[in-house]
Amino acid sequence: MTDKTVTLHIDGMDEAVELPMYSGSIGPDVIDVGKLTSKGLFTYDPGFVSTAACESQITYIDGNEGILLHRGYPIEQLAEHSTYLETCYLLLYGELPNQAEKERFENTVCTHTMVHEQIRTFFQGFRRDAHPMAIMCGVVGALSAFYHDSLDITNEQHREVAAFRLIAKMPTLAAMSYKFSIGQPFMYPDNSKGYSENFLHMMFGNPCSESKVSPVLAKAMDRVFLLHADHEQNASTSTVRLTGSSGANPFACIAAGIAALWGPSHGGANEAVLSMLEEIGDESRIEEFVDRAKNKDDPFRLMGFGHRVYKNFDPRAKVMKESADEVLKELGLEDDRLLRIAKRLEQIALEDPYFIEKKLYPNVDFYSGIILRALGIPTSMFTVIFAVGRTVGWIAHWHEMISGSYRIGRPRQLYTGHVQRDYTPIADR
Ligand code: CMC
Repeated sequence: MTDKTVTLHIDGMDEAVELPMYSGSIGPDVIDVGKLTSKGLFTYDPGFVSTAACESQITYIDGNEGILLHRGYPIEQLAEHSTYLETCYLLLYGELPNQAEKERFENTVCTHTMVHEQIRTFFQGFRRDAHPMAIMCGVVGALSAFYHDSLDITNEQHREVAAFRLIAKMPTLAAMSYKFSIGQPFMYPDNSKGYSENFLHMMFGNPCSESKVSPVLAKAMDRVFLLHADHEQNASTSTVRLTGSSGANPFACIAAGIAALWGPSHGGANEAVLSMLEEIGDESRIEEFVDRAKNKDDPFRLMGFGHRVYKNFDPRAKVMKESADEVLKELGLEDDRLLRIAKRLEQIALEDPYFIEKKLYPNVDFYSGIILRALGIPTSMFTVIFAVGRTVGWIAHWHEMISGSYRIGRPRQLYTGHVQRDYTPIADR
């Protein structure tokens, strides 16, 4: 893997430091700085802008070209031809399944959809107005107290069962967190339904009448899950890896990922997009908000715009936009007030020199917020849905790490605090 080296000449140091460089199958070369500590040096890279924290074979992103590949397959092709569960299989096992493997995987996931009955009582501990993400952080972490037979991280079978359980139970828990917040009875999963259809059934069904899920909406939901399935070493995935590096169990690791996802700079952005559209309220006020986003002294940012990695366009956003158009047409919602504001905002921002110069394009969350609203999903559930879709990515990365060689993640720092000083008795302070 070592092709080249980099030689570092440091002021005041006689000896140059030779660092190995590695090439991946595609993408930029990386410099291995591991041996710098033996020279008394650390690298400094807040936000990990230039840091490859691990080696991985799952997902590749080229932010300049707007390319996203899962196990080599372009996201556009997966979105068009695959399903969420088939993409889960691909992410977990590295290859697309044949027909028998696909059916076996789908059946296995379907048989794990129910949660332990006692988890239902767990929900009662939350306030009625609890945010569903708060519930998800708690309840997913609590799964480790219920499934002791899948906690041995050194056992490959345990890891596989944990993956099935998490992928299967996340929609059930997500729907339960919604039902709890609106005071409706929890719906049991119906394993005769497809993955996304079942989720919508648990979200919108009730025990008093038979639930019918429109195939168009189930397909749109499936595509939302698929487009969120993985995204390389983003904040929540890196959190899962870091948590897992200490040997924590998979349920605890995924709970940590959910917490990291919650923030508005990451998965919380889809909810923030809708809140922002509500705040704008009318097309006549769009310019005012665009001006605020451009003002350096105003912390306001246009939610759903910009990305750390994509500087051309977000390929997921392109597919999500097509999906949004289809769903809005299907539901006859093209004239919805907030959706009109969204479309106009998108147009203005795409033409504004500030956004063009800074390469701030609408990201996946801009359009996913629109689709989810059209599907009748309440805003507070948007980030939960992102978490459901991303669970497979988190698990795939965790599994990749645990099944290879890894060390506990332990970054260092540039210390700028006090140098050593003596304790002052309280009377002298
Ligand atoms: N509105 C206005 N200005 C922006 C925005 C925005 N949405 N995003 C970035 N900028 C400006 C920023 O002020 C900075 O300007 P300057 O160079 O003059 O200081 C410049 O663009 C670069 O921004 P940055 O904050 O250094 O970029 P970053 O890579 O650290 O942040 C981001 C990326 C996604 C956190 C950021 O673009 C943002 O806050 N966007 C809005 C939130 C959002 O939509 N997040 C979802 C991301 S996609 C889903 C996911 O993968 O989780």
